[in-house]
Amino acid sequence: MSIYLDNAATTFPKPPEVAEAMFNFMNNIGSNAGRGSYSSSLETSRIIYETRELICELFNFSMPENVIFMPNITYSLNILINSIIKPNWHVITSSMDHNSVLRPLYKAREDMNIELDIVQCSSQGVLSVEDVEKAIKPNTRLIVLSHASNIAGSIQPLQEIGKLCRKHNIFFIIDSAQSAGVLPVDFKALNAHAIAFTGHKGLLGPQGTGGFIISEELNKIAVPCIVGGTGSLSSSVTHPDFLPDKFESGTQNSPGIFGLNAALKFLKSIGIETIKDKEDKLCSILINDLSNMEGVIVHGLKSSKDRTGVVSITFENFDTSEISFLLDHEYGIMTRAGLHCAPLAHKTLGTYPSGTLRLSPGYFNTEEDIHYTLNSIKKLIVR
Ligand code: ALA
Repeated sequence: MSIYLDNAATTFPKPPEVAEAMFNFMNNIGSNAGRGSYSSSLETSRIIYETRELICELFNFSMPENVIFMPNITYSLNILINSIIKPNWHVITSSMDHNSVLRPLYKAREDMNIELDIVQCSSQGVLSVEDVEKAIKPNTRLIVLSHASNIAGSIQPLQEIGKLCRKHNIFFIIDSAQSAGVLPVDFKALNAHAIAFTGHKGLLGPQGTGGFIISEELNKIAVPCIVGGTGSLSSSVTHPDFLPDKFESGTQNSPGIFGLNAALKFLKSIGIETIKDKEDKLCSILINDLSNMEGVIVHGLKSSKDRTGVVSITFENFDTSEISFLLDHEYGIMTRAGLHCAPLAHKTLGTYPSGTLRLSPGYFNTEEDIHYTLNSIKKLIVR
């Protein structure tokens, strides 16, 4: 028996079309995009451009050239933040954010003399719009927030925060690592200036893919921090300033983007509502049963409609890492225990420093998987 319940880290399995597209690229195409005028290079460029269009469709965005591919969302957030941030800016984020948001901002505070405020979320992991508004100062120029928590699954009120950003003329960057592919992430409705995404979680694509989409307004003040070969303006030793080349230097991860292309088409055919409904159903069974299990504490919101399919638990009498190890070792169930690269989120939930055991079902899990997991946890904690 093998049950994968670590979809918040990376989704598995992927739709078979993903590996097929990557296999096809590696065996039948193989060329770099934008570097040759022969047919296979043009085919690579065509699929990469089509993938930009699919990303636009998913995020309700209209400029494929403003879709930038990166190796992952951590790179995307680093490049975005470091390309735009200016000294003396006041920047706001939240205590539920991941280290991929926190670390670049803490580093910018050291290197760029910015002011940083971390708005404290509730003990259930929810950010208050009023608290964000209270934190805004005359020099607040940027708010960076995760759409959903990778530990509690709490979905943040980003639409209201987007309105605040518009009202106060603040740039708004969204980390969609835990929401894209499961929740609607609408660039326009959220009033975003940039959305960072990863290909290998809810989008069901391969690792090594991700990127960001950026508005013209934010792009205007951005200075790329990585430059090099783009296959364009090759006679010049200075980097092009048009998109996407401005941010995309060097050879692309074409096999990965071919896989992401297939994943996005799969997602479109299934529909993210169907995926969310399935994850909600599995998540509700987990939350209900675990909440009634003696010696188990479920963290975060209880209603599956306010959260994504991420359930974090601790035990009155057991260490989370020990149970995670035993679930794998004795029952073949894969979960992630610890701090999940989000120490402030665990402090917020009251689960720092030992962390939680995180169960994150995905679209390909079944109710049977969930019942087997619940029974296995029960057996481990009553013996
Ligand atoms: N951020 C990913 C996780 O939560 C890797 O596991």
